[in-house]
Amino acid sequence: MSDKLNIVTIDGPSGVGKSTVSRLLAQRLGYTYLDTGAMYRAVALACREADIDPSDERAVAALLKKFSLNLEPPDQVDADVRVFLNSREITPFLRTPEIAMTASKVSALPVVREKLTQLQRQIGQHGEIVAEGRDTGTVVFPNASWKFYLDASPEERARRRTEQLEQKGMKVDLAAILQQIIKRDRNDSTRSLAPLKPADDAVIVDSSRMSAEDVVKVILSHITHSK
Ligand code: DC
Repeated sequence: MSDKLNIVTIDGPSGVGKSTVSRLLAQRLGYTYLDTGAMYRAVALACREADIDPSDERAVAALLKKFSLNLEPPDQVDADVRVFLNSREITPFLRTPEIAMTASKVSALPVVREKLTQLQRQIGQHGEIVAEGRDTGTVVFPNASWKFYLDASPEERARRRTEQLEQKGMKVDLAAILQQIIKRDRNDSTRSLAPLKPADDAVIVDSSRMSAEDVVKVILSHITHSK
């Protein structure tokens, strides 16, 4: 295991439960939770606030020159990672379907992926992190010791996402969420750069009929047996 980093990567499509599982896992292992999706969402919010088209690479590149991002652990264990854009907290604005869709678009730009990959590697340089996203096992941390890819049907993911947003007090339509999930899957897995796919050495876990706790148990048992 000499050149491997003690990093766990959790990749998979939207709404599959990566955040819940990664948060629980980080807690159990005493590792830091790195939510890479929140970083793409921060770029998306910055684009919307500056009225920039998320597919206009030159405009986005100029925006990134004035862009500083900091992540801090949440106040409560089950809350979202706190995100600061140019020192201003933007955490409450990141979890909306509109920002998710813009994040999916902006994440196809090489300039964005380069910048965020570099930041993610910096955060993970000393190991002991659980990194969650689409490409953390394939591109960001190819030397991670433990790689997992979570999957579930689009219908089940839409159901879970709807429940999650409703718990946050948002009014949402299940059919619309399902359409967004299908569209985001297509965007995320067909882009040429760092597309959503399992790493060759990832363990694939189908979570369709499993609770988050069960998924964590399966993952922890893989980690324990391969130590
Ligand atoms: O995981 P999430 O829903 O917060 O991610 C939002 C979008 O960001 C997702 O549709 C694709 C993009 N993303 C990415 O391209 N690579 C990552 N490692 C994480 C997220």
